Amino acid sequence: MRIPAWPVHTEREIELLREVLESGQWGGFNGMVGRLEREFAAFQHCAYGISAVNGTVTLETALAVLGIGPGDEVIVPAISFISTATAVSRAGALPVFVDIEPYSFNMDPERAAAAITPRTSAILAVHFGGPLADLDRLMALASERNLVLLEDAAHAHGSEWKGKRAGSFGLAGSFSFQNSKIMTAGEGGMLTTNDAGFAERAHSFSNQGRRPGQGFFFHYSLATNYRLTALQAAVLLAQLERLPGQIRLREENERLLRSELAEIEGLHFQEVPKQVNTHSHYLLLGRIDAAKFGKTRDEFHGAMLAAGIPCTPFYPHPLYGNPLYRQGGCRVEPCPVAEACVRDAFWFPHRVLMGDQGTTREIAAAIRKVGER
Ligand SMILES: Cc1ncc(COP(=O)(O)O)c(C=O)c1O
Repeated sequence: MRIPAWPVHTEREIELLREVLESGQWGGFNGMVGRLEREFAAFQHCAYGISAVNGTVTLETALAVLGIGPGDEVIVPAISFISTATAVSRAGALPVFVDIEPYSFNMDPERAAAAITPRTSAILAVHFGGPLADLDRLMALASERNLVLLEDAAHAHGSEWKGKRAGSFGLAGSFSFQNSKIMTAGEGGMLTTNDAGFAERAHSFSNQGRRPGQGFFFHYSLATNYRLTALQAAVLLAQLERLPGQIRLREENERLLRSELAEIEGLHFQEVPKQVNTHSHYLLLGRIDAAKFGKTRDEFHGAMLAAGIPCTPFYPHPLYGNPLYRQGGCRVEPCPVAEACVRDAFWFPHRVLMGDQGTTREIAAAIRKVGER
């Protein structure tokens, strides 16, 4: 099976890297970093971008800048990568885990509404796998209940809800450029926002409490150094140039794959709301109904690996099942869907959708064969 490798680079990365290497400034103060912040923010339909070393500290920065801490509760989905929850815990606030919707894999707005208490200060929605969480309902909920809405958009570069991009709905969006992400420099992160005050404070927080034009050794608040290097910015600028074409390729291949598998009973790919007019296709997620498909999720996963198709059998637990949260330090609302997904869901990484049509048809044939055996 000719499934492309990831990450990949072209001469463009090398050209921009050379520019940085020959500039005498390899760190965060090179203009290349500001250029990436402006270009990526504009790409996500935002006015400001604040880069950082990864997509974990961007979440931590957002909460710190908003003053969310002890005594606050933050609603998070039970299914995400650990950073979504630990950012809340490390701020000293309480993560409140709520269930996801059965096939979108995103936070269920009704479950979020039911989890609100007088201590709730924010909703941290995740756009899991690429398609955006239900922003019509989450935005309405946040505004009715006077809560901050934040977007963990680590999977959602280029994803749109009614033509507007991830990271431009909440007060801020948080992106990751870690090795598996669809735009990567190995590590890296970015906050996006349309709020000038938030942008100024987030920039200062990740740059030792400095203020623009106020001198290198003048620090105005308790802050830290989360600066992205110019070497990473160079790679990311090159990756950003190729991103729209890569998204289109994944879109076409996913359409083909889904149409080839439309007749297969018991195989449910991620439901993409009609408001999501395009999305990153970071993960190709699905659930197996073993009674109809004829094989369990684990049998499906094993068969995919045997066929040479990279596949992950979902997370081994909802976030609250991690040893960290089994000791407490969180509130867990009923999450039957998240628990069912742990048993029957799977995902393919985005590179599965980056081959040619022939490869996509071979993948579809391999999947069909598992159900038939
Ligand atoms: C949903 C989500 N949030 C946050 C992160 C954290 O990003 P990073 O690995 O850049 O710290 C990830 C990373 O994998 C993620 O998947």
